[in-house]
Amino acid sequence: MITALDHIAIAVPDLEKSIKRFMEDFDLEFNGTEEVVTAKTSTAFFQVPATRIELVHPLNGEGPIAGYLEKKGAGLHHLCFRSDDIEADVERLKAKGYQFLSDAPSLGAHNSKVIFIHPRSCDGVLIELSQPGDDR
Ligand code: CO
Repeated sequence: MITALDHIAIAVPDLEKSIKRFMEDFDLEFNGTEEVVTAKTSTAFFQVPATRIELVHPLNGEGPIAGYLEKKGAGLHHLCFRSDDIEADVERLKAKGYQFLSDAPSLGAHNSKVIFIHPRSCDGVLIELSQPGDDR
């Protein structure tokens, strides 16, 4: 039986820079680095609270996911970090030079406020910030 999503791995060209990003910019708890000689990799792990898997599919065959599937096919689409003050986090990250896909948060699933950081600002990974709405 599957018991948990154990981890998500992101390939990064500059480990120190990415560690700094996840610690300082995304406020995640750093668990340290390990050189896995057998796999010829240096790894860094960060603790995150219990999470969920989101499957995303085009609504009525259109929208950004339709474009994504057409261009890249099925695959890992984005990571989403929960925020308790999305406007403040957007402002803080913009000041650090992060580029966003829109100017301000919009309404997402479960009445949450969401905004996406451009993949070029984050090692090629699309990052969503989400502030839960009142109904969850
Ligand atoms: Co999402």
